[in-house]
Amino acid sequence: MLDPTQLLSRKLLLVTGKGGIGKTLLTACLGQLAAAAGKRVLLVEYVACDQLAPLFGATLVGHSERTVAPNIDCLNLDPTENFREYMTKYLGQRVLYDTIFSHKVVQSFIKTVPGLAELMLLGRLYYHCELAPEPRYDLVILDGFASGHFLSLMTTPAAVLHTALGGPLIRETERVSAFLADRDKCGIVYVTIPEALVISETLDFLPRLAAQSPTAIAGVVLNRTPPLLSNHSLPGPAADYLARIAESAAAATAMLTEGLAAMTPHESSSTPIWTLPEVGFVPEPLPADFAAKIFTATGQDKAEKAK
Ligand SMILES: Nc1ncnc2c1ncn2[C@@H]1O[C@H](COP(=O)(O)OP(=O)(O)OP(=O)(O)O)[C@@H](O)[C@H]1O
Ligand SMILES: [Mg+2]
Repeated sequence: MLDPTQLLSRKLLLVTGKGGIGKTLLTACLGQLAAAAGKRVLLVEYVACDQLAPLFGATLVGHSERTVAPNIDCLNLDPTENFREYMTKYLGQRVLYDTIFSHKVVQSFIKTVPGLAELMLLGRLYYHCELAPEPRYDLVILDGFASGHFLSLMTTPAAVLHTALGGPLIRETERVSAFLADRDKCGIVYVTIPEALVISETLDFLPRLAAQSPTAIAGVVLNRTPPLLSNHSLPGPAADYLARIAESAAAATAMLTEGLAAMTPHESSSTPIWTLPEVGFVPEPLPADFAAKIFTATGQDKAEKAK
């Protein structure tokens, strides 16, 4: 059964996919589903301007957790603030930070060190999942970067560990890496759409991600899947057009299913696929039952139930 709630048993979900594909909408939907299941959820962004808060009708949240709906908090991390907190709170290096890293010149240098901000983002997620004082969030969801940047994010811990350095940052990176590699606790959710070209990019990218990321791919979401429409009331050309769209989406979905199965030949089941239908217009704020309604209205779930 393709029940998206099976994703939500994890502690950390990292959402990624091409730019503009529906990562933020999916993050909000997963948040709603988890909250409806009684979990306390933190949705994390790392962008110049909040995209999540408006979906919950909230004002922009910025660099501190804010409740945007029952059981749902949002946080938009600021890289500089995150660096300060990471050094002083998590690594316990307040003196080092105050004497060296707080200087403006050093700060601009830090911004240019590849991977440092990424490392601290992953550290922050780990903190919320495993170290923050109780009661912790049951689930943290990162509205992640687009594919290429996301791959760099996920390869950062291994790159740092290969430097063979020592010290608190390395010890912390080891802990974060072990956490990210825990399949029961962490998973990547990849968003794509049922169009042949995009699916072919997806099938090119996912094996690279699977090979290089410590975190396993927990599932793929096919966003903007054409809804199952009754065409009886539509005039001929419109019905034909919709039928053609549905046909090409079905072909792209089959291509994805086969490609994912081929990616995992040794495992008993391949990566699960969920569908999120094209809703035409996404209302802001989202109604509280938005995710519950659209996840259960998918063609795949209906077909599953009919079996
Ligand atoms: N299933 C859908 N039905 C209709 N519109 C959708 C659907 N999914 C996403 N959209 C719309 O597509 C646009 C992009 O979605 P979203 O912001 O979630 O993508 P994103 O991957 O987060 O983009 P970015 O890479 O810019 O952060 C938004 O206007 C959103 O409302
Ligand atoms: Mg987004």
